[in-house]
Amino acid sequence: MPATNDQLSKYERIEAFVKGFKLSSTAYKQVMTLLHQEMNNGLKTQSHKMADIKMFPTFVRSLPDGSEKGEFLALDLGGTNFRVLLVTLQGHDIDIQSKTYLIPQRIMLGTGEQLFDHIADCIGKFVSEHNLLSHTLPLGFTFSFPCQQEGLAKARLSQWTKGFRCEGVVGEDICRLLQEALLRRTNCKVEIVAVVNDAVGTLMAAAHVDHNCEIGLILGTGCNVCYMEYLDNVGTWGNEDEKDLHPRQVIINTEWGAFGDNGCLDFTRTEYDRELDTFSINPGKQVMEKMISGMYMGEIVRLVLERLTREGLLFQSADKDCPLFERGRFYTKYVSEVESDTDEFFRHTKLVLEELQVVNYTTEDCKIVKYVCTLVSARAAFLAAAGLATLINRLNKKDMTIAVDGSLYRFHPRFHNLMCLKIKELVKPGLKFKLCLSHDGSGKGAALTAAVSLRLRDLLALPTDSNALNLLSKDIQS
Ligand code: BGC
Repeated sequence: MPATNDQLSKYERIEAFVKGFKLSSTAYKQVMTLLHQEMNNGLKTQSHKMADIKMFPTFVRSLPDGSEKGEFLALDLGGTNFRVLLVTLQGHDIDIQSKTYLIPQRIMLGTGEQLFDHIADCIGKFVSEHNLLSHTLPLGFTFSFPCQQEGLAKARLSQWTKGFRCEGVVGEDICRLLQEALLRRTNCKVEIVAVVNDAVGTLMAAAHVDHNCEIGLILGTGCNVCYMEYLDNVGTWGNEDEKDLHPRQVIINTEWGAFGDNGCLDFTRTEYDRELDTFSINPGKQVMEKMISGMYMGEIVRLVLERLTREGLLFQSADKDCPLFERGRFYTKYVSEVESDTDEFFRHTKLVLEELQVVNYTTEDCKIVKYVCTLVSARAAFLAAAGLATLINRLNKKDMTIAVDGSLYRFHPRFHNLMCLKIKELVKPGLKFKLCLSHDGSGKGAALTAAVSLRLRDLLALPTDSNALNLLSKDIQS
């Protein structure tokens, strides 16, 4: 249907408010160049301190080989829910029993002691419900916040992200805090043997079955990536002698969510990103994460819709007090729902608008809402794709599997395809890649890391003069 002049000028006006989300191929290539440089800054000793992307070595230097076995406790802390899992490994067979506990907001913003006491209480209940009080259980802890690792079971929190701000934890070893809380609050016999980031857990879980997998990506409440790096490229990895030892690789937790905190990504940001940042709990931090992840995507869409309504371009008869105009009320799951409408009936979009108590909306309003969701999601997917393409090019392997987990990736109907399209455009010719859903990577991965560390510890008990094992021994003991 040809647009009338009135419509044309309306669409042109809408376009002026959203064009910032449409980035050119050149812009994405520029993102890649910058990311590559910033990653190098994080890896080098001289620049690490000032670098935004911390590129933390994780001390995980060995991927599972399928021979892992035993019973493990795993914890998964990284969002509003906290999970305790009992994982039984028997070769490639994995049995998981788990329970999810809520972390109330007052605890997310309370003291570290309250947080770790709450976690310990949940573990205590879980262990007793499963009649495991008499067992000594090794525990793998998935703690999905930026940490400087000093050993496989020693990690100091460098900063909180994703709505957490518990006092007295930054700079502290979170394993010690948990172990002390367990002693204080429970009589369980639990030994923390490994602490991992969720991206690392995701990679470990996928590498268990696919040996081409060397990258782990999280697209959930937050956003992060990890990968296997050669020790020669890791300036921050301890002393020079260790570099002669094998395996000569370590998983790097990039913490790329902080990319852009120094302003280098400002050319990709819009007025809505800046407003979201100003009203966030951590202004100026996690710039890349705020443009991609599930904690923020719905709010970006909401800010655009609010602006278009104020300009008289959307929802002519919307009530000023309707929930659409409250911060945080347009959840990211709504973006996925709106994006799943493929015809002009806008069934899901209408349900979302009704939930938000928007009255008298028109089909044209639905079309505009869908358009905004499409633009915001596409920029997020393309930025994540540019990040992955940077890593794929950097690792330069012919066939690469990328393990992906997180609610955004799982539930958004187009994220996977959008990412694949963009990665294809940006990777060097001849490099093949596959994005693979790694279900429950955080839980399985923590248990597998714990299992690998115990397997290596058992090996170490045997007389050996292998340098590699001596080094791993050092890692495990520290
Ligand atoms: C954290 C990362 C984590 C990611 C995904 C980010 O906010 O800094 O450590 O991996 O969220 O959960």
